[in-house]
Amino acid sequence: MSERMKIFEGDITTLEVDAIVNAANNSLLGGGGVDGAIHRAAGPQLLAECVTLDGCRTGEAKISGGYDLPSKHVIHTVGPVWDGGRANEDALLADCHRNSLMVAEENGLKTVAFPAISTGVFGFPKERATRIAVREVRAFLDQDVGVEQVTFVCFSERDFDLYQRVLGMALD
Ligand code: APR
Repeated sequence: MSERMKIFEGDITTLEVDAIVNAANNSLLGGGGVDGAIHRAAGPQLLAECVTLDGCRTGEAKISGGYDLPSKHVIHTVGPVWDGGRANEDALLADCHRNSLMVAEENGLKTVAFPAISTGVFGFPKERATRIAVREVRAFLDQDVGVEQVTFVCFSERDFDLYQRVLGMALD
């Protein structure tokens, strides 16, 4: 299993994988953070396609082309906004990961990279989010052979260390 889950520190828009996952908002019309970085790197054709996707509900995932990105596709998912943990945030964040991987599997994709969904603007506690992400990806890979490798992309050394610790525990 350890060879099927990787950690990478850096900018997700530089990864040459079958799909990078975007931490979008319900409109799918772009924003800041990783959403802004992905749209900037993909170019205007990404927004033009996203306009046709008719938005995305929180916890769900939709696929688009990657355009000027090195990755072939972008899987857009919308994480929950943290509201203290009383509004089903954990389950919705788990849904983001599972639904993104299901979309990848349905499209025959083998390599997928996730950012730390909801842990920026949406304020989800990082350690709690990391545990959910690792647990859900591992559970999916345990029952699916279509998706061969998932990379967790950390945008800071602190996040990288956190993922290393949580992933290490999950593989013990
Ligand atoms: N590559 C990888 N990770 C990145 C990048 C990047 N280029 N840029 C930011 N990140 C990281 C952040 O450090 C954070 O850990 O992505 C994680 C998610 O943060 P946000 O991008 O703020 O996403 P989120 O918290 O899910 O909020 C989504 O923000 O940008 C808007 O349109 C977006 O409304 C939506 C909201």
